[in-house]
Amino acid sequence: MILDFRFSLWNFLTCAYYIFCLDDCVFVFGIVSFFICFIVFLFVIHCISELCYNFAIHYIIFYDLLCLYTLHRFRRLFMITLLNIMIAGTETTATTVEWAMSNIMQNHNIMKRLQEELVEVVGLNNIVEEHHLPKLKYLDATIKETLRMHSIVPFLIPRSPSKECMVGGYTIPKGCTLILNVWSIHRDARYWDDPLNFNPERFLTNKWDYNGKKLIYFPFGSGRRLCAGVPLAEKMLMLILASLLHSFDWSIPKGEKHDLTEIYSIAIKKRKPLIAIPSQRLTDVSLYM
Ligand code: HEM
Repeated sequence: MILDFRFSLWNFLTCAYYIFCLDDCVFVFGIVSFFICFIVFLFVIHCISELCYNFAIHYIIFYDLLCLYTLHRFRRLFMITLLNIMIAGTETTATTVEWAMSNIMQNHNIMKRLQEELVEVVGLNNIVEEHHLPKLKYLDATIKETLRMHSIVPFLIPRSPSKECMVGGYTIPKGCTLILNVWSIHRDARYWDDPLNFNPERFLTNKWDYNGKKLIYFPFGSGRRLCAGVPLAEKMLMLILASLLHSFDWSIPKGEKHDLTEIYSIAIKKRKPLIAIPSQRLTDVSLYM
């Protein structure tokens, strides 16, 4: 329902969601509608006063005020951009780490192989540093597989063509809202062997990246709207997961079951949050200080 809206509204909804920290989109919808009405009301008042203003005051004074107003607007735009970047970069990364850890903990062989790679590259008397990351090929493949199975932003940002075009034999009318279901493409058996099986091996053989040019794998989107934070996200995911897996052994509490069911609320999240128990892995306690 939310995705029927244009990009600006989508951004607004995202903000609203985070500000109110709600999972229930319908409730957010109510609040958002209220805000939209309020904003429209302010806009009408503003237009009327602007009109009166134009007639009443000498145009130089008006010009000065306009500059001030533009500056004010620019500052607001700047704040909104910063807020957007913060929102786009935090929830997505945290959710990916949670999905990756859940899948790794469910597959002991994968966890073992990752920890062996970390011992080989980092060493048991050392902590993970940035220069180790390019050598962690299996971890990189595991992250790519996580983003395939659980596309965090399943429908990307809605598109709207500026002119009518044909894609795959279909006419896409000018100005329509286009939603791409990357989640479904990533699980399509025509492109992926055994798509519901978590298997990082598939990313070891071919050269895959996040530039969105192969339209069967594009977890960070594609084209001009491609995620602005790909290099940062890639490094953060590698560093966080490498550090967690190298410094600790992980298990789930007794009686708990692995649960990988998804819920959709702006981003695709776990229905039940992951509860994981870390235990010391490195012998040198000072490495934890
Ligand atoms: C695992 C982490 C992340 C994932 C999966 C992710 C995914 C995405 C996706 C799918 C889009 C929409 C692209 C499209 O529609 O083509 C997007 C947009 C965006 N992302 Fe990310 N992202 C992540 C991390 C980050 C980080 C760390 C930042 C910044 C610090 C960031 C900033 C942005 C921004 C600003 C946009 C909007 C770009 C635009 O519309 O021009 N993202 N992201």
